[in-house]
Amino acid sequence: MSKKILVTGSAGFIGSSFVKLMLTKGDYEVISFDALTYAGNLENLDSLKDNPKHTFVKGNIESKSDLEKVFDEHKIDGVINFAAESHVDRSIMDSSPFVSTNVFGTVNLLDFSKKHNVKRYLQVSTDEVYGSLGATGKFTEKTNLKPNSPYSASKTAADNFVRSYYKTFDFPALITRCSNNYGPYQFPEKLIPLMIMNALSDKDLPVYGDGMNVRDWIYVDDHCQAILEVFEKGRVGQVYNIGAENEMPNIEIVKQILSYLNKPESLIKYVKDRPGHDKRYAMDNTKISSELGWTPKYDFENGLKLTIDWYLDNMDWVERVISGEYRDYYKSNYSNR
Ligand code: NAD
Ligand code: DAU
Repeated sequence: MSKKILVTGSAGFIGSSFVKLMLTKGDYEVISFDALTYAGNLENLDSLKDNPKHTFVKGNIESKSDLEKVFDEHKIDGVINFAAESHVDRSIMDSSPFVSTNVFGTVNLLDFSKKHNVKRYLQVSTDEVYGSLGATGKFTEKTNLKPNSPYSASKTAADNFVRSYYKTFDFPALITRCSNNYGPYQFPEKLIPLMIMNALSDKDLPVYGDGMNVRDWIYVDDHCQAILEVFEKGRVGQVYNIGAENEMPNIEIVKQILSYLNKPESLIKYVKDRPGHDKRYAMDNTKISSELGWTPKYDFENGLKLTIDWYLDNMDWVERVISGEYRDYYKSNYSNR
């Protein structure tokens, strides 16, 4: 019989990609669970509409009754938690939704998973829990947790709760921590899709500070494959870092996007820096590659082309997701900057 897996945050950027992968790669039945916040979009799961192994449930991990219902209705074997408020800039404007979803929501999910004796729970976390690096070195799983933004502080708190449930209750939890993702279906408030969309409409490309902050970019499908491998083969109680060893300063990415779209660099506008802006992230993925044999498949040049082409072919998707709420957010984050 197929294993029934509850995937939360399944209508977001990475969650939707993961659900599609999971249904093609193994004998699973997926219960997709998502509150459909501004970042969640059922359209991202359109291709699964007629798949008998996929069921979508609209629900909020902050709500005990929503969780009670889904756990009572389905015999859940495993849980993978993608649900989160995920945007650093929004957490700087208002941290409370980050505490509610990322901390309280995660604790609720841990409690219901424990009560219903799930066999495996995977928490999808981020490299940002480690804080910021100087010019050298990489984050390993042993690096101390030193979050700098309200977003990363909330993800760190969630990781600590997951760890505590493993230690205190022998709860079968695993944690993955990944670097910056890019690819199709990413909400256009994050660097790469924002710059693609602004370039296409000849709008300013707002680069924070001097553009020399470094992120370690991974194509979303590589991240999803790594999560699946950790879920299936990882050791309970362990953390696995995921990255593609692809460090790049923001300005270089912005210039590559402009060049691919044949747009002028005069569109670049350096704006006031993000407060507490982490300087550099870089992941050491020795553990996942040596223990589980996972390695990334996409190189950045091809991944970026695939991504830009996807946005060019799906402008109607972007138009639909940039609702009134997004326009208000854009105005408050970028005007007077
Ligand atoms: P996203 O913002 O695109 O999607 C988040 C999803 O969670 C949305 O569908 C949203 O509707 C849903 N959600 C939010 N609050 C919820 C709640 N209370 N209950 C149920 N659903 C809720 O985010 P993403 O970029 O796909 O990130 C997914 C996960 O991966 C997050 O946990 C994030 O911290 C982590 N992560 C992201 C990256 C990245 O580069 N994007 C890198 C490493 C880790
Ligand atoms: O590192 C993993 C994290 O990556 C995830 O945990 C987060 O969920 C995800 O949002 C992402 O966080 P970042 O803050 O790194 O991503 P963002 O796309 O917001 O910004 C990437 C870099 O680009 C960062 O250095 C800030 C810069 N930036 C971003 C925006 C939106 C700009 O210069 N201008 C912008 O307009």
